[in-house]
Amino acid sequence: MRFRLLFVFLLAVALTPQSVSAKKASTIDELAEMYSIKHCAECHKDKYEEWKTSSMGNSLADPRVLKGMRTFIRLAIDREEELERKALTICLNCHIPQIKDATPELVLHIGDLILTAVEDKDEAKREAAKKDLSKLNLNCLGCHNLKGTGFHSTPEEKVIYGPRDIEDSPHEGFGYKTVKSELFTVSEFCAQCHHCPPSVPWNECPTIFTSYVDEFVIKNGRNETCQDCHMEGKKLSHKFLGPNNLDFLKSSVSLTVNARPTRYIDIYENEKMPAVILQVTLKNHAGHEIPHG
Ligand code: HEC
Ligand code: HEC
Ligand code: HEC
Ligand code: HEC
Ligand code: HEC
Repeated sequence: MRFRLLFVFLLAVALTPQSVSAKKASTIDELAEMYSIKHCAECHKDKYEEWKTSSMGNSLADPRVLKGMRTFIRLAIDREEELERKALTICLNCHIPQIKDATPELVLHIGDLILTAVEDKDEAKREAAKKDLSKLNLNCLGCHNLKGTGFHSTPEEKVIYGPRDIEDSPHEGFGYKTVKSELFTVSEFCAQCHHCPPSVPWNECPTIFTSYVDEFVIKNGRNETCQDCHMEGKKLSHKFLGPNNLDFLKSSVSLTVNARPTRYIDIYENEKMPAVILQVTLKNHAGHEIPHG
C-alpha cells in the first residue's frame, strides 16, 4: 500500500497495541523460530509450494518493499519530529505481523538492516542483510493464527484458525488446536491488511477494498470475494495471484476495437483523404479499480 504521511499518522493512532505474549524475540532468528512453519510445509506441501511463489512469501525482502521502507525511514521518520525509528512498526504490522512479538531493539535492528540492504556500498553486506530479512515474511501462521480472528478479538496462541470445522487430530500431534473462523471466507479477511483499521473513517482511506465495496459490490451488485478471484475459487490456491501472473493480469481487462473506413475532409486545405473511425471498448473485469497501489 503506497503511503502518505497523513495515512501513516492515522495508522499510528488507529493500530491498537496487540496482545502481549510472554516471550519477546530479540533476534531475527528467534522471531523466525517462534513462527516457524517447518511442520506446516511437511504436511501441506502443495499450499507451501504455492505460497512460496506468492508475494506474501517475500513481503519484507521484496526489493520494492525494501526500497519503500528505506524511503519511509529516510524521508519521513528521520525528518519528522513526531516520528521515531520505532515507527517502522506501523509498516511491519502488515508486512510481517509477527513483529508484535519483537523487542523494541529488534525493530530498530530491522530498520538498520533495511538501510544496509538498500544503501550499503558493499554488495556482500547488502546481500547478507537481504538474506537475514528474508527469514521474516507473511507466512502460514501470520494468516492462520495472527490474522485469524480479525480486529476485534485477540487470537489464541497455539491455534490454527481455518475456514472449516475439522477434527483436531491432524494438528494435535505438534501441540496446536484447530478452530473454525468465519473470517477466512469473506473479503474482510484480506481487508485487515489491504485496508485501514475500522477506526479510520471510510472516506479518509481510499484503498482497493473501498473500491471493491463501493463499485463492485454496491454499485454493480456482484458478490465474488477477494478469495474467489485471487485464490481461484474452490482450488483455494495459495499463490495469491496478482499482476505478476500474466494470465491473471490478462483476465482483468478486455479490449475490443471496431474499425470502419471513411473519408475525412480537410476544410482548410480543401482535400478529401482516406481515414478510419475507431471504436475502442476497454472493460475492467477485476473486482476493483486497476491498477491500484
Ligand atoms: C494496513 C497494512 C499496511 C501497512 C500499515 C503498510 N503496508 Fe505496505 N503494503 C500493504 C499491502 C497489502 C501491499 C500490497 C498490495 C498493494 O500494492 O496495494 C503493500 C505493498 C507495499 C509496497 C510495494 C509497492 C507498492 O507501492 O505497491 C511497498 C514499497 C510498501 N508496501 C511499503 C510500506 C511502507 C514503507 C509502510 C509504512 C509506512 C507500509 N508499506 C505500511 C499493506 C500495508
Ligand atoms: C495471506 C493469508 C494466508 C496465508 C499466508 C496462508 N493462508 Fe492458508 N488460507 C487462507 C485463506 C483466506 C483460506 C480460506 C479460503 C476460503 O476458504 O475461501 C486458507 C485456507 C487454507 C487451507 C484449507 C484448504 C481447504 O481445502 O480447505 C489450508 C490447509 C491452508 N490454508 C494452509 C496454509 C498453509 C500451510 C500456509 C503456509 C504455507 C498458508 N495456508 C498460508 C489464507 C492464508
Ligand atoms: C501432521 C500433518 C499436519 C501438519 C504438521 C499440519 N497440518 Fe494442517 N492439516 C492437516 C490435515 C490432515 C488437515 C485436513 C483435515 C481435514 O480435512 O479434516 C489439515 C487442515 C488444515 C487447515 C484447514 C482447516 C480448516 O478449517 O479447513 C489449515 C488452515 C491448516 N491445516 C493449517 C496448518 C498450518 C498453518 C500448519 C503449521 C503450523 C499445519 N496445518 C500443519 C495436517 C497437518
Ligand atoms: C497480514 C497482512 C495481509 C493479509 C491478511 C493479506 N495480504 Fe495480500 N499482501 C500483503 C502484503 C504486505 C503484500 C505485499 C507484498 C509484496 O509486495 O512483496 C501483499 C500482496 C498481495 C498481492 C500482490 C499485489 C501486487 O501488487 O503484486 C495480492 C494479489 C494480495 N496480496 C491479495 C490478498 C488476498 C486476496 C488476501 C486475502 C485472502 C490477502 N492478500 C491478505 C499483506 C496481506
Ligand atoms: C472479480 C475478481 C476479483 C475480485 C473480487 C478481487 N480482485 Fe483483486 N484483482 C483481480 C485481477 C484480475 C487483478 C489483476 C489486475 C491488475 O493487477 O492490474 C487484481 C489485482 C489486485 C491487486 C494488485 C493491484 C495492482 O495495482 O496491480 C491487489 C492487491 C488485489 N487485487 C487485491 C484484492 C483484494 C484485497 C480484493 C478484495 C477486497 C480483491 N482484490 C478482489 C481480480 C479480482
